Amino acid sequence: MNGSSERRVLSGMRPTGRLHLGHYHGVLKNWVRLQHEYECFFFVADWHALTTHYDDVSIIERSVWEMVVDWLAAGVDPQHCSIFIQSRMPQHAELHVLLSMITPLGWLEQVPTYKDQQEKLKERDLATYGFLGYPLLQSADILLYRAGWVPVGADQVAHVELTREVARRFNHLFGREPGFAEAVDAAMQGMGKKNARLYAELRKRYQEQGDQDALSTAQALVRDHSSMTLGDKERLLGALKGSGKIILPEPQALLTTEERMPGLDGQKMSKSYGNTITLRDTPDEVVKKIRLMPTDPARIRLIDAGNPDLCPVWKLHEIYSDDRTKQWVQGGCRSAGMGCLDCKKPVMDAVIAELEPMRSRASYYESNPDILHTIVSEGCGRARELAEDTLDEVRSAMGLNYR
Ligand code: TRP
Ligand code: SF4
Repeated sequence: MNGSSERRVLSGMRPTGRLHLGHYHGVLKNWVRLQHEYECFFFVADWHALTTHYDDVSIIERSVWEMVVDWLAAGVDPQHCSIFIQSRMPQHAELHVLLSMITPLGWLEQVPTYKDQQEKLKERDLATYGFLGYPLLQSADILLYRAGWVPVGADQVAHVELTREVARRFNHLFGREPGFAEAVDAAMQGMGKKNARLYAELRKRYQEQGDQDALSTAQALVRDHSSMTLGDKERLLGALKGSGKIILPEPQALLTTEERMPGLDGQKMSKSYGNTITLRDTPDEVVKKIRLMPTDPARIRLIDAGNPDLCPVWKLHEIYSDDRTKQWVQGGCRSAGMGCLDCKKPVMDAVIAELEPMRSRASYYESNPDILHTIVSEGCGRARELAEDTLDEVRSAMGLNYR
């Protein structure tokens, strides 16, 4: 990774329309935190939606905008990150096609989601080129921005792993520009005499003795150099490991503690189970949904003692309630000292309070579509600059920058 890519985060989401609390607790809360710590790019992966739902294109547009509004509602802040839409950026397609030239078919066939999804979505015909290639499209999404970090769920780690392999192969094949050794020498001179000597010494220690500390010290020396061009940094970093120039840095999955949001029935919250609370549910809707939640089936009457471990409402307390409330639930439930409706009340209040600011932000953006469109255009603009920089280097490494 070079200096700036270490600070850069990229993640995408397929447009699924309105989002729910599962998306918020599992993904968006994390994005909201990351936007203050990294240079973040979040994009709508609308082409990815087509890889499985190419026969159902009428819903894409609405789903895209509903989802962007929900991102903003959740607190993803265009002042602190860039939001863009994949299909506005043809650069993803160009990098995808170029990477496809060097990607062995076996690598794609071995991605676990390939067979899993075909199994799962049996009713769809997924024996398509686009579906096989979609993890590589994801690699292009990531490498196009030279993102160092990719926040993803566990199911997507294999895709980041594929991306690392593709980047490695690319750098190996195309990182050897003519005159590489001379360019490295020149870059070393640019570091100043003392640093150049230190770099050479550390490189030797790493290459001859496999000294990992020497490697990290040398990497830091290069990265932290204040006046060196990005290209020279990449050359010096590449030369450390004995590869060529690192054109596409390898990203890492940013696995965050995934909060598994329970749904209204105690299963994982998911649209397909019909057990969701959406980010835009009104207080009335929240009350109604939680009131209807099933509880421990043993508690038929108020005088029947219950067991919170068997109750979906308890799972919500675990997310929303403080210790005192939790003790109150445990005691009241097990001793049949309180009714289920009383027990549900603090959860209702907490969810309503959590959604309050989201609903108001969502309604702001819904009634100001111009602002929404501007946010996305600006995000696309920032994304485009990075994407074009990468593609310039990729094209020239692949012998395509002639006129
Ligand atoms: N494939 C991801 C998913 O289904 C979405 C995605 C597409 C993505 N491109 C990406 C995520 C790049 C992270 C980085 O959830
Ligand atoms: Fe569930 Fe609370 Fe009723 Fe116990 S009292 S069964 S935890 S809703």
